[in-house]
Amino acid sequence: MSTPFKENYNSSSPFSGTGSAITILAIESSCDETSAAVCRDGKILSNIIAGQKVHEQYGGVVPELASRAHIQNIIPVVTSAMQTAGCELQTVDCIAFTQSPGLIGSLLVGAQFAKSLALSLNKPLIAVHHMQAHVLANLIDDPRPAFPFLCLTVSGGHTQIVKCDSPYQLTVIGETMDDAAGEAFDKSAKLLGLPYPGGPLIDTYASKGNASRFSFPEPQIPGLDFSFSGLKTAILYFIRDNEQKDSNFLRNNINDICASIQKRSVSILLNNLKRAAEETGITEICVAGGVSANSGLRTSLTEMGMRNGWKTYIPAFQYCTDNAAMIAITGYYKFLNEEFDELDVKISARSEW
Ligand code: KG4
Ligand code: ZN
Repeated sequence: MSTPFKENYNSSSPFSGTGSAITILAIESSCDETSAAVCRDGKILSNIIAGQKVHEQYGGVVPELASRAHIQNIIPVVTSAMQTAGCELQTVDCIAFTQSPGLIGSLLVGAQFAKSLALSLNKPLIAVHHMQAHVLANLIDDPRPAFPFLCLTVSGGHTQIVKCDSPYQLTVIGETMDDAAGEAFDKSAKLLGLPYPGGPLIDTYASKGNASRFSFPEPQIPGLDFSFSGLKTAILYFIRDNEQKDSNFLRNNINDICASIQKRSVSILLNNLKRAAEETGITEICVAGGVSANSGLRTSLTEMGMRNGWKTYIPAFQYCTDNAAMIAITGYYKFLNEEFDELDVKISARSEW
């Protein structure tokens, strides 16, 4: 990619910036979290995340309300990220932002803010793919995985197994054919009458339940792709049949039901990951995305890793769900590779990579 600001840039090389250190200000606004982070030489100095409670009453994210909340949040969030990092805008070398995928109105707010800042500060701009950023969240803290590694990326919109040969060479080798893992958690929770987003609630109830009490089916999908629609249908019929027999069934068994659903969801994810590790011979194994905050997944991955001789890596909680630190670290690697973007770079609701 070109380096649009080079001719106007403060110094002859973007690497010299305002000193030897490289400081990136990153903005994430793809869904319902407004986040800003500052990273210096690959070290995260701040990561501020503002959630949006307004969606709870609707049982899901309302795109127009998300955009409006981003507009309200973005200046305080960026200001707070700069203050926490102890950083002045003039010392920033580059502005990174989430370009895709996501809700188009939400992406627009972050992108326009980032572009305006880059233009006014005369700094380079870096557009970041949200899913690449989830994967590279594993490079934020020590211990970091060695290349090549596999990453199971499990979020509200995606479920992928990604082979990573370098920060720049990422190949999707398996993905969901229907629902994403987070979506499956959220839809299961909805069937159980739990509020949105239900994934973390299933996790909480599951921690008090017996995961072997109820059995849900595991899909037989060839290759490395995933499917969660069969599990969702099985849960629907399971609840309907048992509630017909006993109207208090859900209320009296919620912990065991959540634990059993979580156990099956995790086994669908990890059995495929195991197949991917066997097929590729790769033993450096990471997880990423909102669902990697799930305690059942974290524990089972660690145990599976010990059984199979893998080295496993799980990002800290704040880098699992949507956050700007992962955009900052991806921006840092793209900066090192001089992958800058023009001011007219377009955002996209969906995009392959
Ligand atoms: O990565 P993320 O924050 O946003 C997207 O890019 O989609 O992922 C959000 C998803 C939601 O579906 C949420 O329910 C799920 O991650 N999630 C969890 C947990 N924490 C977040 N699912 C299961 N257990 C959790 N502890
Ligand atoms: Zn995400």
